[in-house]
Amino acid sequence: MDLMYILLCILLDILTTSCQDTIQGRIVGGYAPVPYSIKYIVSIQTTDRRHFCGGSLINKYWVITAAHCDIGVNKMMIVAGDYSLIIYEGTEQVILPKLLVPHPEYNSATNNNDIMIIKLRGPVELNNFVSIALLPRQGASIAEGRLCRVSGWGYTNPRGGQIPSTLRTVRLPIISSHKCNNSESFNGDITENMLCAGYSIGGKDACQGDSGGPLVCDGRIYGLVSWGNACADAQFPGVYTDVSKYRKWIDDTMISYSTRCNKNPRISTTA
Ligand code: ARG
Repeated sequence: MDLMYILLCILLDILTTSCQDTIQGRIVGGYAPVPYSIKYIVSIQTTDRRHFCGGSLINKYWVITAAHCDIGVNKMMIVAGDYSLIIYEGTEQVILPKLLVPHPEYNSATNNNDIMIIKLRGPVELNNFVSIALLPRQGASIAEGRLCRVSGWGYTNPRGGQIPSTLRTVRLPIISSHKCNNSESFNGDITENMLCAGYSIGGKDACQGDSGGPLVCDGRIYGLVSWGNACADAQFPGVYTDVSKYRKWIDDTMISYSTRCNKNPRISTTA
């Protein structure tokens, strides 16, 4: 398939990263994965096609992302099977959301419970470019030092506006919450619902626009890009929503909105 497109993507990536990453990385310190190898990642875009958050498919009808990516159900669309945001590759599936379910206890001041699931209007088609990610079990913990992978498109320019780009990815170790919370770092702001990942020398991190995207460890989405202090700073690792704390909420929520008992009046749908 379209070897030309893939080559074009790679060429484009080489051309753009050499200047972009010095302005500000997307995923900082990472690299371009093999095109379409991270098949569960989606780009969440405004209806005028501007990427603003990442997400992951957890089944044909649902995407997981961060609660702070909630801009309103009628203002966003989901793109699966994408690699380059500016090239039409023929692999993309654009799906509109039907329903946004941010965590009811999401707190935008503290970033606690920064998780949201999105029900799609129709199912994605699973194929060579699009697949589903696994979630950790409720309460499963991931040990300090474990290497995980974070991926995303992200902003490429700190002054706003986005330089067209392809997907990036980087491997990062989990940092203990104890370390992450010390007075030289986040000084107590890391709750039990958050995970930290990064290197003590900095250099590799998620960044603005990677939000909501997956931090994958052992083949499961243990983290969602949530917040940080600048990007790739030695003192401040990236902070992620600890997905294992929400497995039960995710499963219960999906069941409560399955078509046969769609009767929860608290959240409006567009359908
Ligand atoms: N809140 C940011 C976003 O909306 C993500 C920041 C992640 N920062 C970091 N240093 N890991 O895109």
